[in-house]
Amino acid sequence: MTEPATAPFYRLDGTATSLVVDCRDAQPSVLYWGPRLDAHCTGAELAALSVRQEAPAREAREAPITLTPLPAAGYLGRPGLAVHRQGRDWHVFTRIAHVEQLDAHTLSIVSTCDHTLIKLVHRLTLDPDSNVLAASTELINEGALLTVDDCCAPCLPLPEQCNQIMGFNGRWSGEFRTQTVPRPQGLYLRENRSGRTSHDTFPGVIVHDAATSEQSGLAYGFHLGWSGNHRLAVNELADGRTASLFSELFYPGEQRLEHGERYTTPTLYAACSTNGLTPLSQQFHRYVRAHLTAPHMQGKAKRVHFNSWEAVYFDLSEEKLFALVDAAASVGAERFVLDDGWFRHRRGDHAGLGDWYVEDAIFPNGLTPLAEQIAKRGLEFGLWLEPEMVNPDSDLFRAHPDWVLHADPAPRVLARHQLVLDLTKQAVFDYLFERIHSLLTQYPITYIKWDMNRDLHQPGSDGGAAVHAQTRAVYALLAQVRDAHPLIEIESCSSGGGRTDYGVLAYTDRLWTSDSNDALDRLAIQRGCSFFFPAEMMGAHVGPADCHITGRRLSMALRGAVAVFGDMGIEANVLDMSEAEKKELAAAVTLHKTHRQLIFSGDLVRLDTAPHDHAFGVVAADGGEALFSYTLLESQPHSLPGRLKLTGLEDQARYHVQCVWPTDLDTTREPLSTLHGATFSGSALRQHGLQLPLMHPASPLIIHLTRR
Ligand code: GLA
Repeated sequence: MTEPATAPFYRLDGTATSLVVDCRDAQPSVLYWGPRLDAHCTGAELAALSVRQEAPAREAREAPITLTPLPAAGYLGRPGLAVHRQGRDWHVFTRIAHVEQLDAHTLSIVSTCDHTLIKLVHRLTLDPDSNVLAASTELINEGALLTVDDCCAPCLPLPEQCNQIMGFNGRWSGEFRTQTVPRPQGLYLRENRSGRTSHDTFPGVIVHDAATSEQSGLAYGFHLGWSGNHRLAVNELADGRTASLFSELFYPGEQRLEHGERYTTPTLYAACSTNGLTPLSQQFHRYVRAHLTAPHMQGKAKRVHFNSWEAVYFDLSEEKLFALVDAAASVGAERFVLDDGWFRHRRGDHAGLGDWYVEDAIFPNGLTPLAEQIAKRGLEFGLWLEPEMVNPDSDLFRAHPDWVLHADPAPRVLARHQLVLDLTKQAVFDYLFERIHSLLTQYPITYIKWDMNRDLHQPGSDGGAAVHAQTRAVYALLAQVRDAHPLIEIESCSSGGGRTDYGVLAYTDRLWTSDSNDALDRLAIQRGCSFFFPAEMMGAHVGPADCHITGRRLSMALRGAVAVFGDMGIEANVLDMSEAEKKELAAAVTLHKTHRQLIFSGDLVRLDTAPHDHAFGVVAADGGEALFSYTLLESQPHSLPGRLKLTGLEDQARYHVQCVWPTDLDTTREPLSTLHGATFSGSALRQHGLQLPLMHPASPLIIHLTRR
């Protein structure tokens, strides 16, 4: 008797999640993905429980939802693969050739199609601690030139009762807006052609039960870690089953493989929770902390930033910057980031991009005097760059007008007066690396704010579409910079949060969440971002009193309270502030420094609140302390507010309560006089809640709790 090439079932287990792959058919499929199964539960019994009959007026045997659903297998839903060779060889039908289970968490399945000479490798890793599944599909062409129109990451089925889809919309300065819609029969489809992760179509969805809340109910989260074009689909089939499909979106002919060439999809990150949306996010945060945080950043307290952009924009002078360095240091900043405007010809946003040489007219002795001043005040030096872009009005463009992506002869689309350099050209790549490397070598720069401020409207290179190649080239450039300067910290910015994803996070250390520093808007933006990203990745700055984007005037109490809960920074002209405002700002920075270890390592707890308020907290992994934030957004509907129930604490433990923000809280008056300094059980705080005081609209309250 010969051994069968594969076992019928393979099982991966995390601490809370199990995944069972069925390999009995020609193609592998996920038989089960959900809460952890009992050790005795077998694939065979799951299979027996899943047997379906022949549906009326349908095919004799329903095609399974395989890891790559194939039309040639009789699958009529959205396929996981669309390829051809000049109109032929579209009907790929792979068969499992080899399965390798490295350990209880990692599975790799090789399948081949002898007819079309295509090989697929599905890789699935269920991270045992975070329970996040990382999955990718590799396509290897063993025949003649192959056109790949679509190739999805491994397709995962969804339970029938998960009939609500939370997607992420938004715009510049209004990223990560959630929108929940009932799952339609047919396709829920989101497509992004912006050439970057985008402000309006974040590559993630959360699919959940109608009754799911922050703290209860079934939820499945998906995120495609990719900074280029993408397509997200949830496909409810006519037969009642639901498949999820995530892939890069290709323009016609964009992905073609010669004999022997291979294409690997971006990694799909997926997780499932039976206890609501907050635990789902905690799983993603744990994964980011363990796997997408650079080794030199693990456990490192991030520096409080001062960023020059909203303080002075392009109005730079050494004198002003020196004064800002002093002012920034005096309120507690630990890093000074010189934003846009420092390089040749850059007196506004219409010129200079590409000319990455220090502007002599502003800095006659280069950046050294400023760097010295920054060091003298004990700060680190960070610099803004936008490597992928060029202004037509620049020396670089005048010398190399052929270095840009384009769709000639179509008229060129300008956005923010700029064009996009074609990083797939070696000469462009080398020029940019040389410029960045030389700046980092010449000056004591420890931090780059890497910006990218326009969509790729015409992503053509040498006649073909090149978003994929451009995105890979950006990653390669980031990697090369990091290889040459291993301790450099890099922020991924794209007009705010336009390039916020796990793909870029593998090469960067901070995400600029949004250009809006309006603290009320920021609460919603940071909440949306928190579904997949932990606090330490979210740049959060205290902006000017009159928000530059919305024109809204907000108190320092609120601006500080909101920035405290991210990777905190200051982006306002401290020189213009009154002494009282500066004092309050310094107090907010101190509050952040006091608690940043907790904020950057604890478990986020989003609380379900009414439309007029907003609340969340961070609880230490061992339950020993917590910091909760409450904001009254609008006027109270009633004459007195209700109680706030604090989730995430240990029920049996007792907690000492301190009201730590704002600075002018009157803790001698009820109800704060009863709360402040008192001790309560975790159970009472969670199940009964704590009485909120009367507050003004747009004002915060931060409470610190310590286990006794
Ligand atoms: C983008 C960024 C801002 C700032 C400007 C500078 O809009 O998101 O933070 O750096 O560019 O031009």
